[in-house]
Amino acid sequence: MIIAIDGPAASGKGTLARRVADAMNYAYLDTGLLYRATGAKVLAQKADPADEAIAVKVAENLKADDLSGDALRSEKVGTAASKVAAIPMVRAALLDFQRRLATTPPDGKRGAVLDGRDIGTVVCPEAPIKFYLTASVEERANRRFKQLQEKNPAAIYERVLKELEERDARDSARDVAPLKMAEDAIHIDTDRLNANAVYDAVMAHIHTHMSADD
Ligand code: CDP
Ligand code: CDP
Repeated sequence: MIIAIDGPAASGKGTLARRVADAMNYAYLDTGLLYRATGAKVLAQKADPADEAIAVKVAENLKADDLSGDALRSEKVGTAASKVAAIPMVRAALLDFQRRLATTPPDGKRGAVLDGRDIGTVVCPEAPIKFYLTASVEERANRRFKQLQEKNPAAIYERVLKELEERDARDSARDVAPLKMAEDAIHIDTDRLNANAVYDAVMAHIHTHMSADD
């Protein structure tokens, strides 16, 4: 069983996906981390994230250890991630790992929850349950600003808003696997919903789907 959760930056994918995976005892993969880790390593080499040769080499050699650390959560790394993510060969290099986890989840888990931009459209188009979360860019900037402010009191809302707008535009406009809703996804506009309300709505859909299968 695969559950796909897509949507733009700070729409609440990770918060939701982690909770759904816990409740169902499924594996969880935050696919954004693969692009963030690639972007962070290219930046660490003082290279340009849009440099195809360097970004592809980094993506091909990514290790599990590269996927952790608070530094990956910064908006600087988010921007670098969205630049490497526009390179078709970077996406190709990261695809297998995502598909393998989705189709053969570890530790005897019976399913997997993946969140990202193209899970329902490209990584797991066969997923039987897909969600697409949205919220206005102002609401999402507010959420991301609050998260960043906890670690860095000097965070600036206007800057977070501008970075999210640029990232939305880059993620939606790219040629390969752009951010877009799969035709068979359930759309949830989270603008006026808190994380608990989104979780309840999603679990209700999952239960309906599961009981229809019985
Ligand atoms: O993974 P993604 O970037 O889509 O978002 P996130 O990091 O899971 O969520 C961003 C922030 O929004 C977190 O602090 C959540 O607690 C908060 N939030 C949410 O996840 N869902 C809502 N409906 C409202 C707020
Ligand atoms: O947490 P947030 O939604 O801000 O970003 P993320 O999910 O960590 O993704 C960072 C960047 O990686 C995105 O802006 C996308 O450009 C890219 N990404 C992607 O292209 N495809 C995915 N499946 C996941 C992330």
